[in-house]
Amino acid sequence: MGAEEYLPEDPGDLEALRRASMGCRGCGLYRDATQTVFGRGTVGARLLLVGEQPGDREDRQGQPFVGPAGTLLDRALDEAGIDRGKLFLTNAVKHFKWVPSGGRRLHKTPSARERAACRPWLLAELRVVAPALVVGLGATACQSLLGSGFRLSHHRQELVDGPGGLPVVATIHPSAVLRMTGADRSRAFDGLVEDLRFASTAVS
Ligand code: URA
Ligand code: SF4
Repeated sequence: MGAEEYLPEDPGDLEALRRASMGCRGCGLYRDATQTVFGRGTVGARLLLVGEQPGDREDRQGQPFVGPAGTLLDRALDEAGIDRGKLFLTNAVKHFKWVPSGGRRLHKTPSARERAACRPWLLAELRVVAPALVVGLGATACQSLLGSGFRLSHHRQELVDGPGGLPVVATIHPSAVLRMTGADRSRAFDGLVEDLRFASTAVS
């Protein structure tokens, strides 16, 4: 189990990586998903943002963060004054995990095994894109980057040492903000904006 054996011979080429990821069978999640959703952005992007896994919309369109969580993330990035050209967006797990519920596909959090199986793709993206800083959105992303013991709530607005010594900023996942209501939601949104601003300032 694991994505390692599906990595291309030249893992230094982003397009080769993307193509190879389309055929990954490194865990069982490819079976019920439409396609691999690889990262979006360019080599040399200063900031690399890591989400959890594609959602329903991302699974259909083949692009990360094009659904409701992506819309909220876009708003937060705008408020933080972050230029989209500076970004590479990806996920800790590249296939959509879901369970059927009333005719819909309901998101299901990937297991620690699935997260570990998919980690070689994330590490390869980090190596090739070579950002100055990584933002982990939510627990799955942060645990993939920083280990299973990492507790996100204890490390907001802090630079943490990530893979290969890359600095990581941990923050809340946009979907978690979407699940909240009222004052909690606006507080959580403001927290996300503040963390993104912190990350952007750290690399400018
Ligand atoms: N949530 C994520 O974590 N990633 C996406 O690409 C979309 C929603
Ligand atoms: Fe491969 Fe990751 Fe998809 Fe599993 S989730 S099949 S490891 S790309």
